[in-house]
Amino acid sequence: MEPPQDAAAAAAGGRKRRRRGGGRSRRKHQNPSSSGVAAASPPPSPQAKRQRGADAASSKGRGRKPKPSSLLDKMRARLSGGHFRMLNEKLYTCSGEDAFEYFTNEPDLFDVYHTGYQEQMSHWPEQPVNVIINWLKGHSASWTVADFGCGNAAVSKNVKNKVFSIDLVSEDPSVIACDMAHTPLDSSSVDVAIFCLSLMGTNYPSYIQEANRVLKPGGWLLIAEVRSRLDPNTGGADPEKFCESINKLGFSLVTKDAKNKMFILFYFRKKEKSKVVKNIEWPHLKPCLYKRR
Ligand SMILES: C[S@@+](CC[C@H](N)C(=O)[O-])C[C@H]1O[C@@H](n2cnc3c(N)ncnc32)[C@H](O)[C@@H]1O
Repeated sequence: MEPPQDAAAAAAGGRKRRRRGGGRSRRKHQNPSSSGVAAASPPPSPQAKRQRGADAASSKGRGRKPKPSSLLDKMRARLSGGHFRMLNEKLYTCSGEDAFEYFTNEPDLFDVYHTGYQEQMSHWPEQPVNVIINWLKGHSASWTVADFGCGNAAVSKNVKNKVFSIDLVSEDPSVIACDMAHTPLDSSSVDVAIFCLSLMGTNYPSYIQEANRVLKPGGWLLIAEVRSRLDPNTGGADPEKFCESINKLGFSLVTKDAKNKMFILFYFRKKEKSKVVKNIEWPHLKPCLYKRR
């Protein structure tokens, strides 16, 4: 498993960008002239020199003593980073049923996972959930949506549609806590089913089968997945085979958005009528593990 290669690259990009950003802000203070040439300034007076020396000495003194709280914060961050990676690996390597039991017994771990997840996502240049939210905003607000593996329920918080938010733990009364292979939603009741980076369990096909059950004929199935999970060059699944399996279930691929560096977004539509195909072969989706930063 190694999609973190992508994640790590994005993080490195983020770090570089931050360094470059720091440089820009320093230059901004030094050189207010638009010509790019620093304006000449008069030599400092002896009084100003003394004051500068005093300032430097006091800031040096401050710099020598690290604040104990910052050290503790760093240690806490390292521990919670490790905890996040452990939970992430757990979610990618067990069934949805086991994940549901695990998080039901330890609901606090859900926060640990999502704090780490948000940190990882902050390094992505574009968040797939935002692309999906914008897509929904461009379509009918009367559509009913099911957000499978909703996380912090960003979709329901940002659109006017009626949204069924589903996840392993419910910290908000609007979120349905269940294993998304078996939701309480009625058959043929939703217009859009979303999986935004949530096909994590080893039994992921059963999640898509559940979406098929709850979707109305003609309904939309949106799947955003980490790019490296669907990149045969890095040990990922063949995206053609992935789409073929979903087609056999009774969907047509309308479009595929592959322009983002970190994820691919598939837009399928459920056929009005389709033959039931038994024993569909699903490609293995490798887990997306994050490297330690
Ligand atoms: C990587 S997070 C993405 C969250 C959200 N979709 C987003 O894009 O911000 C995946 C989410 O899927 C949830 N999930 C994974 N397997 C699940 C299952 N079997 N049933 C319900 N939720 C599941 C996880 O708990 C997690 O909140």
